[in-house]
Amino acid sequence: MSTANVRAVVLAAGKGVRMKSERAKVLHEILGRPVVHYVLKTLRAAGISDITAVVGYQEEQVRKAVGDGVRTVRQEEQKGTAHAVRCCEETFKGFSGEVVVLAGDAPLIGSPSIVAMGEAHRKVGAACTVLTACLDDPRGYGRIIRDKEGQVLRIVEETDATERERSVQEINSGHYVFDATALFEALRDVKADNRKGEYYLTDVVALLLARGRRVGTYRTEDPSEAYGINTRKDLIAATNLIRWRVLQHHLDNGVAILDPSTTYIEEDVVIGVDTIIRPFTVIEHDVTIGKHCEVGPFSHLRPGTVLEDGAEIGNFVEVKKSRIGKHSKAKHLTYLGDATLGDHVNIGAGTITANYDGKNKHATVIEDDASTGSNTVLVAPVRLGKGAKTGAGAVVPARRDVAPGDVVAGVPARSLKGKRA
Ligand code: UD1
Ligand code: CA
Repeated sequence: MSTANVRAVVLAAGKGVRMKSERAKVLHEILGRPVVHYVLKTLRAAGISDITAVVGYQEEQVRKAVGDGVRTVRQEEQKGTAHAVRCCEETFKGFSGEVVVLAGDAPLIGSPSIVAMGEAHRKVGAACTVLTACLDDPRGYGRIIRDKEGQVLRIVEETDATERERSVQEINSGHYVFDATALFEALRDVKADNRKGEYYLTDVVALLLARGRRVGTYRTEDPSEAYGINTRKDLIAATNLIRWRVLQHHLDNGVAILDPSTTYIEEDVVIGVDTIIRPFTVIEHDVTIGKHCEVGPFSHLRPGTVLEDGAEIGNFVEVKKSRIGKHSKAKHLTYLGDATLGDHVNIGAGTITANYDGKNKHATVIEDDASTGSNTVLVAPVRLGKGAKTGAGAVVPARRDVAPGDVVAGVPARSLKGKRA
């Protein structure tokens, strides 16, 4: 698809009253990322990089969440979705291409559907194409009202719908593509004559039809794509859907996730084939795990962690921003932070890298074949040389590197071989 003449608007100004939260709805997190992140990611995957986000409630935080590559427009008062899009009019002056409008609170939309909606739009020369879905339980969504021939007539919000209209199962996803000129013209005529007294973007459909313009729909076959978040329960449901997509991706790639229901993996995690993930494991974003590794049960891998092939991380072990070399093991009760481990390192139960001195973080290096005794504390910055060993309970002070092959023990740890690093 050519996206040169396509721009996007993401609606993200609302508070999200139904969340019962002081935090803006689009800032609530799914797998460690704000809700709005998913919408932006999908747009970019569909090849659309010119993005304007409408911000209002907690605008500074929302601006930060959408990031530098996104233009932001301020909606002073949240008077409805049509009003939000109208706030972009100035920014879109002179632009006569397509505008993809996405609801910032509906993060499950996939890029193939955005592309397909655009294609459907162009094929029939529509002024507006609405992404719709058929839901078993359409409650809370705007309904698509059609005539006998099946042509869309208008969208009615649930609060304004008759009982008969409410029985319609085809809903408005809140995602659309518009002809820019037609959109901004029609927006001028939108009135707030509804139960909520808001300017509804959905009214643009009937307004365009009344002007003799064409309005089309593109129905996604996967109803979960239309899922919008209004309440905390919706947020959990969306999280579960996205979580399951991530897990499926790894299963499809040959990862043995023994109990998906208790495994939490964020996005942007790479896992090699035949790696075993045992139950109750948390893997945050930006983690890379090689082939034939073992992780869990009860492991926590945080951003910046790399496990090389065959590494093993076990019970109650937390790893942050650390590289664990090939076939190295930390199997029990350990914290490894800002550490670099060589190959075939064995970390004894209870070993801690004390990486924080209250002000700064420091690095620990553990070279190939080294091992630590149970309850070793390595006060960073410090280095354990190749093949070095620490005794149980050893506290290795900062900058007191252990020489290759040396054995140290005690508090503070001293060489049992009389060596100095
Ligand atoms: C909207 C649609 C509904 C659709 C549903 C899909 C309208 C009138 N209704 O309803 O047909 O089924 O989405 O999820 O559009 N926002 C602003 N400024 C505002 C108001 C809203 O930026 O003044 C943003 C919100 O932050 C949110 C998005 O627009 O991200 C949707 O608003 P919301 O109030 O949640 O609309 P719904 O009632 O869900
Ligand atoms: Ca919504």
